[in-house]
Amino acid sequence: MKKELVNLTNGYIANVGVAYIKLHNLHWNVVGGQFKAVHEYTESIYDALADVLDEVAEVLKMHGEMPLASLKDYLAAATIDELGSKELSVKDTLDILLADLKTLQAQADAIRTMADADGNYHLVAVMEDNLSNYAKNIWFVSSMLK
Ligand SMILES: [Fe+2]
Repeated sequence: MKKELVNLTNGYIANVGVAYIKLHNLHWNVVGGQFKAVHEYTESIYDALADVLDEVAEVLKMHGEMPLASLKDYLAAATIDELGSKELSVKDTLDILLADLKTLQAQADAIRTMADADGNYHLVAVMEDNLSNYAKNIWFVSSMLK
């Protein structure tokens, strides 16, 4: 794999790792009338991100590359910011989630484009699957914010 594509993919893995923990923060600390719906919804997202982390890292391994695999490396490479522990309104929770989903979507789109140019159909397929999920969940969150 091209070094640039490996770096881009590792940046994505780092953001997925940070988002996985951050989603737990949102899951625990959301408050308000729609608590239960958002609490359960955020769980569905972090469960999906756990699968994304594993699947994308294993694509790198299959291509002879090393995925980032420590929280220290994730924090160094991630562009998604962590969140302190505090209560969050439903609106603030969904605004944060929407922004992070859009960041992951843009990153997956860039990886898909570079992987396609590089003939890496395996990574293209995984990113296209991820992009379908981001499109669906961005629609869900945007609809909840209306
Ligand atoms: Fe839980």
